Amino acid sequence: MTRIALISQSARLDYFVPLLRAAAPELDVVVWPDPAFEDADVAMCWNAPPGVYAQMPRLRLVHSIAAGVDNVVAGQALRGLPVCRVVDPKLADGMVQYVLWSVLHFHRKFDVALANQRQRVWQRPLQTPASECRVGLMGLGKLGGAIARSLLGLGYAVNGWSRSAPDIEGLTVFSGPAAFDDFLSRTDVLVCVLPLTDATRGILGQRTFDALPRGAAVVNCGRGEHLVAPDLLAALDSGQLRGAVLDVFASEPLPQNDPLWQAPGVIVTPHMATMASSAVVAQQVADNVRRLDAGQPLLNVVDMHRGY
Ligand code: NDP
Ligand code: OXD
Repeated sequence: MTRIALISQSARLDYFVPLLRAAAPELDVVVWPDPAFEDADVAMCWNAPPGVYAQMPRLRLVHSIAAGVDNVVAGQALRGLPVCRVVDPKLADGMVQYVLWSVLHFHRKFDVALANQRQRVWQRPLQTPASECRVGLMGLGKLGGAIARSLLGLGYAVNGWSRSAPDIEGLTVFSGPAAFDDFLSRTDVLVCVLPLTDATRGILGQRTFDALPRGAAVVNCGRGEHLVAPDLLAALDSGQLRGAVLDVFASEPLPQNDPLWQAPGVIVTPHMATMASSAVVAQQVADNVRRLDAGQPLLNVVDMHRGY
């Protein structure tokens, strides 16, 4: 019988047990740290403890419960194991909604109106059409592509940055490091939906902020480690940046004493931009386990050379 182990050092994943049993009654499901995890064929993870796969000699598949895989591969010896992730249109819908809200916050100057309200100031901020708000999307994959299409449909001026140059109607794409500064120089609201890799860690730092037009805003829905928080605070303080919407943090929950909680112009949300439904996640993992057992190609396999 194929055994699947639910593994996380930061979250309780027990709620997947009945969902996996419903999706694949033939599976034996255990929850780490039950010692039975060591004999599992499949690890289904969020934030796996470093080195845990080395204790699992029969492991044949690592499956993230999420779109990102950074926290299931960090600190692990993968020994060539396949790593899969979740890809789901409704997950993309949620991200589109979160980013749209964030873009509206800056484009329609809700940040100004809310600051005025706190001072009892009645002043209509100057409004501009969406076509004059330049949104710069870092990452044009499953999520970035969906965001680009939606914002373009609403009339925003959208530019994208990725490694390749996907063909999305109406989108101007800047590819690779050489085009990064040009991309940034045309951006009023910078949105990060990149995966976390060695190449993207710390990418939201002073160099990037300095290359944006003065008064630009930043939205980070990728991973907390994309952001260099002291650089953000300095850029806000100097007026180089107007504000930031942050959904992800290097340490989650965001520690009580973190200055980001109270930084003027910063909105903190608790990693809520989007999430696939647990039933969809369980079904996708169960389908991949069946494929694994049948020797069929797996779905949503991560290219571990690229890291995403
Ligand atoms: P994809 O793998 O589909 O897309 C990744 C995109 O990033 C691609 O366009 C890729 O370019 C680009 N990219 C990767 N590395 C670089 C680089 N070094 N330089 C330029 N572009 C790069 O990922 P998803 O869209 O599915 O998800 C993205 C991330 O969003 C996840 O990894 C996760 O961290 C985050 N996320 C956050 C959530 C939240 O609630 N806050 C929820 C879900 C996901 P190319 O294709 O050209 O190689
Ligand atoms: C994800 C996430 O990667 O929830 O799906 O952050």
